[in-house]
Amino acid sequence: MFFVRVTVPIVLFAVFSDAFRLNRGLKRGKRETGDAEPDYKWFTQILDHFDPSNVEAKWNQRYLVNDEHYRRKNGGPVFLEISGELEMTELTGAGLNYAEKFGAMCFKLEHRYYGKSRPTSNLSVQNLRYLSSHQALADIANFIWHMTSLNSFPAGTKWIVFGGSYAGSLAAWSRLKYPHLIHAAVASSPIMEPKPEFPDYFETVHDVIANYDVLCADSIYEANSLFEQMINITGGAKILSKMFRLCSDLDPRDKNQIANAANELSFVFPEIVQSSKATDGGTMESLDIVCEIMTDSAIGLPLQRYSNVDYILNSEVDCRNVAYRTMITLQRNEENFDFQRQWLWQCCTELGLFLTTPDSGSMFGSLIDVQYYLNTCSDAFNSKFTKSRVTRATEINRIEFGGKTFKGTRVVIVTGSIDPWKNNGIIDTDDPSVVKITIDGTSHCADMEPWDEDDSIPLTEAREKIEDILTEWISIE
Ligand SMILES: *[C@@H]1O[C@H](CO)[C@@H](O)[C@H](O)[C@H]1NC(C)=O
Ligand SMILES: *[C@@H]1O[C@H](CO)[C@@H](O)[C@H](O)[C@H]1NC(C)=O
Repeated sequence: MFFVRVTVPIVLFAVFSDAFRLNRGLKRGKRETGDAEPDYKWFTQILDHFDPSNVEAKWNQRYLVNDEHYRRKNGGPVFLEISGELEMTELTGAGLNYAEKFGAMCFKLEHRYYGKSRPTSNLSVQNLRYLSSHQALADIANFIWHMTSLNSFPAGTKWIVFGGSYAGSLAAWSRLKYPHLIHAAVASSPIMEPKPEFPDYFETVHDVIANYDVLCADSIYEANSLFEQMINITGGAKILSKMFRLCSDLDPRDKNQIANAANELSFVFPEIVQSSKATDGGTMESLDIVCEIMTDSAIGLPLQRYSNVDYILNSEVDCRNVAYRTMITLQRNEENFDFQRQWLWQCCTELGLFLTTPDSGSMFGSLIDVQYYLNTCSDAFNSKFTKSRVTRATEINRIEFGGKTFKGTRVVIVTGSIDPWKNNGIIDTDDPSVVKITIDGTSHCADMEPWDEDDSIPLTEAREKIEDILTEWISIE
């Protein structure tokens, strides 16, 4: 099933039909049938860490524990995997592989407002005031503080935090903010520089596809430019609506509607690139399948092929509902804890990172502009969001954590060479204890997956390097 695209969670998330086998190798987020429900635990957390007059307001935060590798007598460290803007999944990632080597105790902590960790009963704007990365970081610190005494960890026990994507940012930021509690951090594919727009995303996807299959890239380019031209032609919007089986006709004068449709229809390509797991040989199976359609002239012009791709991915629905109003209705639902409304809130109020189509003339055209996202924020939260408001909000974050001039220490920052988010994760530091690793041929958070014999050589080497760095840092008092 596809979710509404306006707030794509930035962690990888397999959403394609099995027929496409796009989620090959993506074990995260999916439990094999027959597995027992993980043994969730609950931590009593403070609602507002920054209001000492209100410390009585509490809620239950969900977490997981795995002590199978813990070697207490040998002074084993404690690994905390930070979960981000989706429901927490099982504690099965690469952290466990490292834990085996280091005899580490493992925890995983769900992020406030996502999954079952719900500080408030609904997502009204009043309640969303308690959702921010600042509160989430304070949750992490408070969790570590209390878990240390609850488990009677020996004095000097070292906590190492792990996280990927937005949670990777939290890993890096938490090490910066609480160095007395957190000894080191491994941040996979983090976002380090919140800002209103992030057109680099589509640009990287463009480059990856163009490098992979230039004919496919040309064809996507043609399809999108014809799409844009058609909107300007009398009757063109009607033809497009028919071609893409839209539930209601596009109105060429309604820019929000056009942007939302363009966003929904094009998102299959970024999603493939973001969720691809380059195994040995670096093939992208799912891109092969889509590109085969996009380059098959027997189907018709590129725009027709484009609609075929969309049809195949959405064949289970009678019509494609890509209406802006439908998306807004979903975003306004204060009872739905799925993730969309919460993540949109975080983007509108502190992170920005709206995925706009770049000016450079990429294969994704030019229809998805920042105003569309600002309108979405305004309509979802009944408040005027201007570009300067979002700019200021992201600036507050950069003033606090440094953005690209992040000055944390003992942090590993891992990026993948084909990850659409990679440009946001690369920071400008020459501190020897900030280790930057870019993995050739992998996408978003690939290094966080459990180790697999299919892993590419660069991925395996990156993991060995992370292990070496952790060995060194854990030995530092
Ligand atoms: C949302 O929750 C608040 C309490 O946190 C409550 O006062 C309000 O009525 C709720 N809204 C709805 C629509 O139920
Ligand atoms: C369509 O019209 C808009 C507004 O007049 C213009 O900015 C845009 O460049 C046109 N697009 C194409 C592909 O002709």
